Amino acid sequence: MRQVASVVVAFSFLTTLAFAFEPWTLSERGDRGYKQPKIEWLDDVTINEVENGTINYAIPAFEGDPFWDPLNAKPIVPDTKYGEMVEYGYQLMVATWRHIGPEVEDKNMRYSGNNGACTNCHLGAGTFKYGAPFVGTFGHFPQYRNREDVLGDLTARINGCMERSMNGYKLPASSKEMMAMQTYMHWLSQGVPVGASKIEGRRLFKVDRKMVINNRADVENGRAVYESMCATCHGENGEGEKRFDANGKMDGYITPPLWGTDDTYNTGAGMYRTLKAADFIRNSMPKGSSAQGPILSDKEAYDVAAFINMDEHYRPIKYNRNVDFPDTRVRVPDQDVMGYYGEGGELTYPDEGKDRMDYKVGPYKGIIKQKPSN
Ligand code: HEC
Ligand code: HEC
Repeated sequence: MRQVASVVVAFSFLTTLAFAFEPWTLSERGDRGYKQPKIEWLDDVTINEVENGTINYAIPAFEGDPFWDPLNAKPIVPDTKYGEMVEYGYQLMVATWRHIGPEVEDKNMRYSGNNGACTNCHLGAGTFKYGAPFVGTFGHFPQYRNREDVLGDLTARINGCMERSMNGYKLPASSKEMMAMQTYMHWLSQGVPVGASKIEGRRLFKVDRKMVINNRADVENGRAVYESMCATCHGENGEGEKRFDANGKMDGYITPPLWGTDDTYNTGAGMYRTLKAADFIRNSMPKGSSAQGPILSDKEAYDVAAFINMDEHYRPIKYNRNVDFPDTRVRVPDQDVMGYYGEGGELTYPDEGKDRMDYKVGPYKGIIKQKPSN
């Protein structure tokens, strides 16, 4: 009798489980089996609230403007140790070179290899739509990374940008700087559910993939776009504009350099990849243009991204990039160094009939495969 009862219990438990998934809604669920709430990013609400399944998200409050005047803005935080860490994390985002740059006095603190800042790409210190924001970032880590088949944590992800975008070295996991950066990202991610991906403006604005599948980026047109729309700020030769303090000493950049100096991202950075750079540039550059609606077309963004990153433009090299995507099934299309060196020292590419330039500047037909997670 008892046996029968437990079988019945087990059976009803199983059916309950089965129906907990509401099979008819499965198609609405992502690959994580979770129906993603929509998160609308508003500028005029101060409290995060849920309405009809949509979360109205607002950036926590700042004093000043982290987008236009990042060095003088600051997060409004409680007068606690947590608040102090958020503030220090913010400083590390906007004035990275002052704390861990290649010229700081304490040689042991020279983790960044260039005089740039996280906010150069994570616009407004991670508060800007489609400008690689840190909104929701905290709840995305640790994450399974199919590309390397590992569980990667936020420390490792930040260090990815330290070694590539900042052309520097890994920050120790236990350092105050690593803690502060992550605490700042935690503060910015408040109210965003773990794993939420339908956040308006998260990551970057994507240029039309059909266009890049069928067309090679036109570097000469990219040069023309650069000269007319970018050179005023980034310089005729990509050199950027330096800032100087009251004593005439260099104090980072007003506009970051894009090539031609060791103060840029290296060849391992996301920004060195044509599609990633195009996605970034499309909505966010020229700086401030997206207030009136972005002014570049998808094609202009694609062409100018290829121009900035062309081989003739010097930038520091990241070695051993050929093993960045150890599983050739899971890779990004715009990785120009890939595969393994054969006997003659020649690099093999995984797609038949494709050479390095096809990966670097397209057309991307026949190259786009299983996407890496994140
Ligand atoms: C030269 C540009 C550049 C710089 C400088 C840079 N990053 Fe990044 N970072 C990127 C790009 C591009 C991505 C990927 C964005 C995407 O695909 O959505 C990224 C992604 C990240 C992510 C993952 C975000 C997420 O939500 O998944 C973290 C964390 C991060 N960067 C931290 C930093 C920190 C901290 C610094 C400064 C020490 C920094 N980055 C400097 C370009 C840069
Ligand atoms: C009004 C000045 C201005 C113009 C014009 C401008 N930028 Fe920028 N750009 C900036 C600033 C300033 C940053 C750093 C981010 C910030 O402070 O918000 C930046 C950042 C960037 C970055 C990432 C920074 C890095 O370290 O790699 C790229 C790439 C970029 N711009 C490309 C372009 C391209 C391409 C154009 C032309 C289509 C352009 N920019 C036009 C001011 C400008």
